[in-house]
This record gives sequence, C-alpha cells and structure tokens, in this order.
Amino acid sequence: MSAATPLSIAILISGRGSNMEALAEACASGALAARVAVVIADRGGAPGLDAARARGLETRALVHRGERSAFEHELGAALERHRPGAVALAGFMRVLSAEFVARYLGRMFNIHPSLLPKYRGLDTHRRVLAAGDAVHGASVHFVTPELDAGPVVLQSQVAVAPGDTEATLAARVLATEHVIYPRALGWFADRRLAWRDGAAWLDGRRLMAPLLEDFRAVVAP
Ligand code: GRF
Repeated sequence: MSAATPLSIAILISGRGSNMEALAEACASGALAARVAVVIADRGGAPGLDAARARGLETRALVHRGERSAFEHELGAALERHRPGAVALAGFMRVLSAEFVARYLGRMFNIHPSLLPKYRGLDTHRRVLAAGDAVHGASVHFVTPELDAGPVVLQSQVAVAPGDTEATLAARVLATEHVIYPRALGWFADRRLAWRDGAAWLDGRRLMAPLLEDFRAVVAP
C-alpha cells in the first residue's frame, strides 16, 4: 500500500479479542502499515468490543437470529460501509458460506490455534494433548470455503510440556498468535504477500509450504 492509502482491515471477533488487540496495537505502533477500519462482533456481549472501544476503534455488534443468510447480509453491509482491503477473522466463531467467502477471497485471513493441516476445527489444544504431540502452534491462513483449509502463510511452533493442561498450552500458543498474525498481515499490507491461482505468494514466489517461526526457545513451557 502507498503511504497515502494504508491497508484498511476489518476485524471480526466473537470473544475476548486478544488477537484483535494485537493487530490494533501493531497498527498503532506502525509495525503493521495498516489501520483498523472496524471491529465487528457476532454478538453484543463479546468482551473484545469493549477492548476495541477503549482503543477508540469503531465497533459494530451484529445479532445472529439463526439464519445464516440474513446474518451474512447484515455482515456484508456492515463490512461494505468500510470497504476494507482485508478482513481478519480473529476468534470469529461462525462458519461463513462459500458465497460470502468468495467475495473476500484473497484478502480474508484467519488465525487458527494448530499447526494446520493438523487439527482443523475446535478443541485443538485438547486434541494435541490427547495425541501426545511434542510440538503445537498456530497458523495464519487465507480463508477459503473449506473450514481451516486455505493456504497457510505463517506458522508458530511451541513445545508441548509434560505437565501441560489445555489452559497452559493455549496460553503459550496464544502468545505466539499475537506475533505471527500482525506479521503476516504486515506482509499483505506491504504487498509482499498475495493470493494468486489459489495459493499464497510471498515476494513473488509461490509458498510451497508455510513459513515457520520456531518459538520453542522463546516461549518456555
Ligand atoms: C485464538 O486462539 C484463535 O486462534 C482462535 O480463537 C482464539 C481467539 O482468541 N481462532 P482471542 O479472541 O483473539 O483472544
């Protein structure tokens, strides 16, 4: 993006919004050359809305009345008021339709708490512990219609410790999410990261595998 038109990002949340805050913080510090256009929640009670307001960000709470098409109509209208250059799902717990995803294909991102393609869906930390994995992490990926299956751009890797519980493991992974999500969106804002032919491209090269940031020595168990 040129200095005159920084990337504008709409952030979609459902809960506490710590990834939203990490993105907002990176924008405010200049580490991410973008601005947060709006924070939209799918429920009024999302704690992240208060955090966003406290930062002076524009917020919008939508009400889901049970019909996805009506909800997506409202969501689409709320987004288009801001014409965002990117949409960042940050703990957004709704599965969006293929039609909706298609509208933002190539500029909609998600942060998922696992080393995709392992552990798509929910309860990733519990499943990692049950499987006895030695490493775990998070993934930033382009959103495609298939859940948690879009091209992965950047991953973080942390160690799973013998005494880990879901909570301790989740906290260790979350700390890395707050690093890799702003970083990957920064590449997009700087036009280093692009979507082409259904794949992620960085610096003009197709990513054959996600980039991996190893936090095992940094985020100690
Ligand atoms: C994060 O672990 C994220 O990876 C997952 O949902 C959680 C949201 O946390 N998609 P927060 O609302 O950003 O704090």
